[in-house]
Amino acid sequence: MQVSPSLLSADFANLERDIRMLNRSEADMIHLDVMDGVFVPNISFGFPVIKAVAKHSKKPLDVHLMIVNPQNYISQTRDCGAAIMNVHQEACVHLDRTIQAIKAAGMKAAVTLNPSTPVIMLEDVIQELDMVLLMSVNPGFGGQKFISRATEKVKKLREMISASGSKALIEVDGGVNLETGRLLADAGADILVAGSYVFSAPSPEKAISSLKDL
Ligand code: DX5
Ligand code: ZN
Repeated sequence: MQVSPSLLSADFANLERDIRMLNRSEADMIHLDVMDGVFVPNISFGFPVIKAVAKHSKKPLDVHLMIVNPQNYISQTRDCGAAIMNVHQEACVHLDRTIQAIKAAGMKAAVTLNPSTPVIMLEDVIQELDMVLLMSVNPGFGGQKFISRATEKVKKLREMISASGSKALIEVDGGVNLETGRLLADAGADILVAGSYVFSAPSPEKAISSLKDL
């Protein structure tokens, strides 16, 4: 299992310290949640913060854009050090064009689905994708309760990926802890995002290791 701890639950006044902890940990990447107050009912942080994180991170940056018009921010996302750019299907009218542009900019292309969006919406682009991010909470906030239907979506997506010959990895985001992570691992998830579970643990490094072992 790969693990992508979400910095949304880190201590923003001690980001460098928390990034150093993640560098030492078994985390495979760092998940960065950008919220614009329009696509989701909350505002988090933007490109200057990602740039500052990139300066200290030894792990690839997994950038999750919860914003409208993400196609307008592809070069900015690349320039601030993102390895993976996640755009929401619900935010993209010309999703295929946006995926091609992300790859042309040199990043891995990932598409995110809200809990209410069925995986079938990706049938015609799945072969183009490096990753699919399934939301297991409604995006906008850390610390929410896991929506258990996500495990069914992981299974459906796994079938679609196998049938199409796509190499896309399946990442799941929201309400992940040891218990829900186990269900997602059994369903076929490749990468788990975890915010509050990691950062509220007595030892965040151990919490990351325990998810890695699922
Ligand atoms: C929610 C974000 C998540 C969030 C997850 O909108 O996309 O990445 O940080 O937080 P937890 O793991 O606490 O549900
Ligand atoms: Zn996220």
